[in-house]
Amino acid sequence: MAAVVLIGAQWGDEGKGKITDYLAEKADMVVRYQGGNNAGHTVVINNQIFKLHLIPSGIFYPDKLCIIGNGLVIDPKVLLDELDYLQSKGIFTGNLRISGNAHVIMPYHRMLDALEEEFKGEQKLGTTKRGIGPAYKDKASRSGIRIMDLLDKNEFSRKLAYNLKEKNLILTKIYGHEELNYSELLQEYLEYAEKIKKYVADTSLIVNQYLEEGKKVLFEGAQGTLLDLDHGTYPYVTSSNPIAGGACVGSGVGPTKINKILGVVKSYTTRVGEGPFPTELTESMGELIRNRGGEFGTTTGRPRRCGWLDTVILKYAVRINGISDIAFTKLDVLTGISPLKICTGYSYRGKMLTEFPMSLSVLAECEAVYEEMPGWQEDLTGITKFEELPTAARNYISRVEELLKVPVSILGVGPGRTKTIIRQKIF
Ligand code: GDP
Ligand code: IMO
Ligand code: MG
Repeated sequence: MAAVVLIGAQWGDEGKGKITDYLAEKADMVVRYQGGNNAGHTVVINNQIFKLHLIPSGIFYPDKLCIIGNGLVIDPKVLLDELDYLQSKGIFTGNLRISGNAHVIMPYHRMLDALEEEFKGEQKLGTTKRGIGPAYKDKASRSGIRIMDLLDKNEFSRKLAYNLKEKNLILTKIYGHEELNYSELLQEYLEYAEKIKKYVADTSLIVNQYLEEGKKVLFEGAQGTLLDLDHGTYPYVTSSNPIAGGACVGSGVGPTKINKILGVVKSYTTRVGEGPFPTELTESMGELIRNRGGEFGTTTGRPRRCGWLDTVILKYAVRINGISDIAFTKLDVLTGISPLKICTGYSYRGKMLTEFPMSLSVLAECEAVYEEMPGWQEDLTGITKFEELPTAARNYISRVEELLKVPVSILGVGPGRTKTIIRQKIF
């Protein structure tokens, strides 16, 4: 199997970074295809914690090419800071390539993200305020600035002038904010361009060449299925397509090239930001899972909302992504919790729903219906083989496989790279 798309099956933070890093050992290339520095992917190697926002989680292997695809929105300052951070830890970054077609996040995008959220008041989405939505908005309205524009001084000056004229009107007339200075911005961004240009390449060409040569390519999704702009809990979503289909659009690869879809599923559910969440635990159990699982945002530090595993959502994720294998993470966090609850349906106005509802207002009224399973007391973090897991843990996994009709091929029993159990090879 040469091309594998790894996606988050829930609302993000499923452990995609850890699993990507693990699989990268066997891959030749790791490709990010959407989102921006709203993502926070954690990789733990020999007790050292790395937090990545833009750079693919394959970067720790100097011989693997890491691609930032056309589907991303890139904040150049964040990118350069992340490169500095990695280099300061002795990580080689010369294996990074960035698509010239990716879009640039400008300071007005970050400002508008915050101002729009404030303006929305009660209706706010709880964004990461990194300028993601406004940058994708400009991309869709065809006024965005791309990395390749940034490298061309004339083109960039022209596009910046036009954009700033419009954005300064919005900032001052709508939001009563100060305007931004053209020359300062131009200068700042041209300096970024100088530093970034050595990484810029025709990434679709490179990825396709790798695939033609039979090399192994891993596509690393950011965010998760329910944060997808088209298929998530709109409007409480991000502005890109994290689902598996997004990998083709965001990297310039045809669907016929994809062999497997690996859905990363956390053994319970979390969500950051606003929006309905049927299995949310607001009392002490939610607090317990949050503390045990260290469920605080990698990007914003916000406490994540926690709840039981929801297989209605997961069945939907299997359908929307075409998931062929599951990586089931953070099983160790559930040690000591008994009974464990699995949501198998929603009760909506006296009716039982087993498919994820299309309407957000229906979802908001849904009450989770659970089945209970006995938990286990044993520490799982030293276990390396599936057969060595306590019976109750194996039963929990079997039930998930039965409900989703997809095999759990990988299991996570700790944050470290080695805390991974493989049941079925992905590459
Ligand atoms: P991502 O956004 O999907 O990459 O996930 P995050 O990195 O935001 O959040 C996942 C958190 O769980 C990180 O702190 C990881 O180090 C940690 N993690 C990942 N897999 C496991 C696991 O199997 N067990 C435990 N205990 N922690 C894990
Ligand atoms: P990773 O890749 C969890 C959420 C935000 C907010 C919504 C919109 O680490 O899984 P945005 O800034 O994207 O416009 O915010 O999406 N969100 C995430 N939640 N994990 C992420 O990324 C997220 N990226 C965005 O909290 O609810
Ligand atoms: Mg994260």
